Amino acid sequence: MANERIPARPSRWLLALYVLVPLWALAYLFVAGGLVQPEVRPVARNVEGVSVGAAAAPDGSEQVLAILAVVPAAARDARPPRPVADAMLSQAKAQYDTLCAVCHGPEGRGDGPAGAALNPKPLNFHFRAFQERMPVGATHWVIKNGLGNTPRRSGMPAFGQLPDDQIWALVEYVRRLGRQP
Ligand code: HEC
Repeated sequence: MANERIPARPSRWLLALYVLVPLWALAYLFVAGGLVQPEVRPVARNVEGVSVGAAAAPDGSEQVLAILAVVPAAARDARPPRPVADAMLSQAKAQYDTLCAVCHGPEGRGDGPAGAALNPKPLNFHFRAFQERMPVGATHWVIKNGLGNTPRRSGMPAFGQLPDDQIWALVEYVRRLGRQP
């Protein structure tokens, strides 16, 4: 019986384990990673009775009115001191592409990569309520001061370092962007 072979089965099992365990671990990492992502900053809150969550009304009025509610009343009535010149508008486009598109998306639909995990989401400038119900003075104030230090505490940063006429040009630019088909 000296040359009787030890059955090969146990070592095959071991081999299978060596392959399956790392595969399982890898699969687990993917699943766990996928599960962790969506629950970044669950910040649904109520501003003056308007509930603001990921599920905004299709025309965006919930989000737009909630933003408006935290803008000081006097700021809403501000108007640009002079019409925005074409040269300023093309400068605003360049600024938008570098500073804003990362969150608001290249077409202003609120779908930039850096905005994906934010709640509330970056505003979609195509929202009808933004075009019809957000006064330009309020937009100017929000771009200048951001919304992080307001009761809304959302992810819109402050761009107060920009000269005032450049902020007015950005206001005009995002409004036009939101009217593109
Ligand atoms: C880090 C992401 C981020 C960046 C960068 C960013 N925004 Fe926003 N922005 C937001 C979010 C989030 C909101 C919506 C906040 C809310 O609903 O409370 C918002 C809201 C706004 C609004 C709506 C406020 C109003 O009163 O009209 C305007 C306009 C706006 N952003 C313009 C800009 C402009 C212009 C830039 C670049 C100079 C910019 N944003 C850069 C995240 C961003």
